[in-house]
Amino acid sequence: MVIKELRPVFSPELVQNRVQELAAEIDALYKGKPLLIICVLKGGFMFFADLVRAMKHDDVQVDFVRLSSYGSATSSSEHITFNKDVEIPLQGKDVLVVEDMIDSGLTMQFLLSTLAQRGAKSLRLAILIDKHERRKVEIKPDFVGFTLEQGFIVGCGLDYAERFRTLPGIYEVIPE
Ligand code: IMP
Ligand code: MG
Repeated sequence: MVIKELRPVFSPELVQNRVQELAAEIDALYKGKPLLIICVLKGGFMFFADLVRAMKHDDVQVDFVRLSSYGSATSSSEHITFNKDVEIPLQGKDVLVVEDMIDSGLTMQFLLSTLAQRGAKSLRLAILIDKHERRKVEIKPDFVGFTLEQGFIVGCGLDYAERFRTLPGIYEVIPE
């Protein structure tokens, strides 16, 4: 695909304001309770870093997972495995998963159903962008930055062929 334009969707300021709001909601929900926050690599890294920095909660552990999906281009998320699992046990903990985007929902369905078997006290999901167009399974994120119907989106951790992850705003990729 030849890219014609990166069309601004959410400005860096808008993203940061929304992240501050989510951080305050998360602080309020887990007030006085230890929390384990799991970042889904690679795409979640920027939202995760911004979110934990904006939180006032200081009894927080962090961990990371990296997932891979295999399959044809048309069914990219059908077979999902861990490239890297968490290292901190979930048993008895309040756990919050932080991911860049839900698209089909298959990736988060796999991750949440796997983590749900590990004895956490609670398991919730924070998503920067909830994209509805290609949803195949029902996933109800607990915290949502922004909702979009469609479009291929980059920035704030999201990539197109590993490019544009570090852009501080959210853009739609417009092909030639
Ligand atoms: P799902 O399993 O279809 O929900 O896949 C979600 C994953 O696909 C996200 O974590 C992203 O890594 C990737 N993805 C889906 N849509 C986009 C997009 O618009 N831009 C960049 N990555 C995307
Ligand atoms: Mg991802």
